[in-house]
Amino acid sequence: MADREGPGRLLRLGKRIGQRLRAARRGPPPVPERTTVVFQTDSGQRVEGEVPGGISLLACARHLDVRVTHYCGGMCSCGTCRVEVVDGADLLSPALPNERMVLGAERDAAGDRLACQARVLGPVVVRVPDWF
Ligand code: FES
Repeated sequence: MADREGPGRLLRLGKRIGQRLRAARRGPPPVPERTTVVFQTDSGQRVEGEVPGGISLLACARHLDVRVTHYCGGMCSCGTCRVEVVDGADLLSPALPNERMVLGAERDAAGDRLACQARVLGPVVVRVPDWF
């Protein structure tokens, strides 16, 4: 498989793996009362807003009126709510085995998350891929 993005992709992957290892050692942070979430899209949309701590990224998207595809309605079975974590991966709840299985090994290793499963525990920035 050709690497279309060059070494930058590997550096981002290494950063995400490092964040994940540090988070695993520390355990999840306490749930804040409120936090900020930033959604970015491929089409250049950027939406930032304050949300209650501990809710899922999918609930955050609804709260901020950001379109995130979610065919199974948040049941962790379709994978269409996949988002890429740009910043703050260690401020999301840890991914459970079912989420990792639905994501697949490649997307899981890249640090992607399912918006319906990842709960915000601090300020995060995520990118919502354009599916269609
Ligand atoms: S909405 Fe289907 S896996 Fe998240």
